[in-house]
Amino acid sequence: MRILVTGGAGFIGGELVDRLIRVPNNSIMVVDKLGYASNCVRLNRMSKKNNLSVECFDLRERSKTRSLLNLFAPDLVMHLAADSHVDQSIDEPSTVFINNVESTLVLMEEFRKYFMSNKLREQLPRFHYVSTDEVLGSGDEPNSSDLNPSSPYSASKASGELIVSGWRKTYDLPITISRSSNNYGSFQYPEKLIPITIIRALEGLPIEVFGDGSQSRNWLHVSDHARALEQIAKQGKAGELYQVGTNELVSNIELVKQICALLEVLKPSGISGGYNSLVTYVGDRPGHDQYYQLPNTQKIAELGWEPSIELQPGLKSVVSWYAKNSDWWQDLLRKNNYLKRKGLG
Ligand SMILES: NC(=O)c1ccc[n+]([C@@H]2O[C@H](COP(=O)([O-])OP(=O)(O)OC[C@H]3O[C@@H](n4cnc5c(N)ncnc54)[C@H](O)[C@@H]3O)[C@@H](O)[C@H]2O)c1
Repeated sequence: MRILVTGGAGFIGGELVDRLIRVPNNSIMVVDKLGYASNCVRLNRMSKKNNLSVECFDLRERSKTRSLLNLFAPDLVMHLAADSHVDQSIDEPSTVFINNVESTLVLMEEFRKYFMSNKLREQLPRFHYVSTDEVLGSGDEPNSSDLNPSSPYSASKASGELIVSGWRKTYDLPITISRSSNNYGSFQYPEKLIPITIIRALEGLPIEVFGDGSQSRNWLHVSDHARALEQIAKQGKAGELYQVGTNELVSNIELVKQICALLEVLKPSGISGGYNSLVTYVGDRPGHDQYYQLPNTQKIAELGWEPSIELQPGLKSVVSWYAKNSDWWQDLLRKNNYLKRKGLG
């Protein structure tokens, strides 16, 4: 297959590309604007494989997006590119919202034209939009199976779903959508809960927990997510919505305590009370969802997918990855002003 992956320099995109290039008959093209959360080192390493090409530009540059579709001629577009951090979207709502919505709109519209000019192909080009369970808003609110976003980020992702659904129905395009729960794994940018907790602990900084820490999340290992996306690439049925997650719901404070306990074994803190004593409760995030529902995981199960990594062993391997790879995140802390403002670096 010829697959165009947008956001392939990011955390999930990188993991997906790493899987896809292992299939020798695949030809993969990454397009990414190389934003602050992009991992160029990983992308460069992967691009040594001759079935991977990379183009660096913002999808909102319409003429470049159009040329890339026509020149690369993908069988499938997997759209992951987005500014993906809720806190950043609260600090800079217009920037994040406009980036995510406009890039989806430009890509969708250019895909429509590309599709129309390839209508006679035996294999019609397909489009997949990667979304999030956050579009449904908090599971304790009424009508929790409707789009009900609680942050500028989730509003932008819900808007993306509406764009691709509207284009699918009007132009009869073969489009699929997936919504996954929170991902974790190695190479996750240190702004998200799991890496930031590990790093704050290792640096002896206060481990900030929003509110009372009772908000719960369903954590999915990024390699399980990438495998689900690969399955959708191979067998996804046009018009389908795939919900991808696990059944394990864990509160944020419980998760933080588990990380502290794992670190205490790996790198004893030497602090009385251990890493746990660094936990500091701070004001809650505005619009913070209590938990998320993944209403129907049946569709992805029908493609033969189920999660393979449980949280305990997954967390253990990720904690030890961050402890061993401090050069990687130390470098990011030095360079990134956003992380500095958050008290890191
Ligand atoms: N991380 C999670 O837990 C999670 C969960 C569910 C869904 N998702 C979705 O999965 C996708 C990937 O998430 P991630 O965690 O890998 O994010 P990430 O921030 O690590 O990577 C996103 C990548 O997209 C690129 N990008 C952003 N806007 C772009 C634009 N206009 N043009 C070109 N490139 C652009 C960035 O440079 C970055 O490399 C996102 O759409 C996100 O909403 C993430």
